[in-house]
Amino acid sequence: MKTLHVNLPGREYKIDIGLNILDQLLPEAVLSNSTDHVVVVTNTTLHDLYPDRISQVLQNSGVRVSTCVLADGEEYKNLETLSLIFDFLMKFSANRKTLLVAFGGGVIGDMAGFAAATFMRGIPFIQVPTTLLADVDSSVGGKTAVNHPSAKNTIGSFKQPEYVCIELSFLKTLPSRELKAGFIELLKHGLIHDVNLFEFIQGQTLEPLDFEFLEEAIFRSCGIKGRVVEQDETETGLRAILNFGHTLGHLIETHAGYGTYLHGEAVGAGMCFAAFVSWHCNELPEKDWERISSYLRKILAPVVLHSLDQDVFRDLILHDKKAQKQAVNFIMLKKLGESFIQQEMPVEKLWDEFKKFTALHPEFVELR
Ligand SMILES: NC(=O)c1ccc[n+]([C@@H]2O[C@H](COP(=O)([O-])OP(=O)(O)OC[C@H]3O[C@@H](n4cnc5c(N)ncnc54)[C@H](O)[C@@H]3O)[C@@H](O)[C@H]2O)c1
Ligand SMILES: [Zn+2]
Repeated sequence: MKTLHVNLPGREYKIDIGLNILDQLLPEAVLSNSTDHVVVVTNTTLHDLYPDRISQVLQNSGVRVSTCVLADGEEYKNLETLSLIFDFLMKFSANRKTLLVAFGGGVIGDMAGFAAATFMRGIPFIQVPTTLLADVDSSVGGKTAVNHPSAKNTIGSFKQPEYVCIELSFLKTLPSRELKAGFIELLKHGLIHDVNLFEFIQGQTLEPLDFEFLEEAIFRSCGIKGRVVEQDETETGLRAILNFGHTLGHLIETHAGYGTYLHGEAVGAGMCFAAFVSWHCNELPEKDWERISSYLRKILAPVVLHSLDQDVFRDLILHDKKAQKQAVNFIMLKKLGESFIQQEMPVEKLWDEFKKFTALHPEFVELR
């Protein structure tokens, strides 16, 4: 088992990573929270695979446990589903001492976290991530949100968890496509901040699962994210580097329809595009671009986008048709393992690069 700490003044928390750790560590964390009521937020898939798993783990802890089961899918990560959590909390007489436990992937973590941030102006929550993506990225750092129909993650809040328990055995039931998507966010942390992590995961195959490798990779990944978040919790600057690949990634998810491409798949195409732009802008050496693109080519399937013209591209990137500034902050690479924020990158320039990228690399993104 490995342990990390995120040191934010007054809101520090622990992240434990390991195999078969949940039964011992979750009750300890709940007891140290001095609550008598836990509300588990999960979805139908997890509830079928692991029926009442969290209530069983907590059965001797002297707390009442209620489980709120939501529909599964990115297309349900919206205000309507969020309000079902509030309905549930009201029905089960939750109060300011109620502790939420997010039991699921990034979608459940983002929604339960947002509910915890806003219910009665804030109640505590614990993350028990069950996907590789949530293990390496979304369960740490305190960003919570739901999607608006026209833009990803636009309604949300910052809310740090009390504790994160990364139980690796849940990955045994995760489908291969989801494993790969999670691997992309792990790779992202290597590309933007740690060439050694990039090298460590080269040549690793995800299946069969190698828990020793996963424990180390998740530890390093959460470590990178934790250190960035400690320096800039609310993204006034540095934290934006974690959005590498997400400008195009979010556009793909929204334009294709939530749930069509997995978040990691969309971000993978977005990372490749951002690396391509970095190389074209003479920031990233050609040899690094070649290394990154040939690696991504092995793990990504093509994203196909329909009816995407310059106007749609601009509106999706700016989220605002009447935006004064036709520019966005765009994360680029200086070299493998080093990123920077390109302030006010013109959307027109991004569109020009996007046309070149799709013409030269339909194996990543194809326009139809
Ligand atoms: N808050 C953040 O910092 C942050 C960072 C990255 C991504 N995100 C968000 O995370 C979301 C993506 O997360 P995700 O990839 O975990 O998707 P997800 O939560 O939709 O989970 C993927 C699928 O796997 C299923 N599943 C979960 N655990 C399983 C298990 N152990 N066995 C079998 N099936 C399982 C889920 O039910 C779902 O169908 C996106 O909405 C993205 O915006 C947030
Ligand atoms: Zn992401």
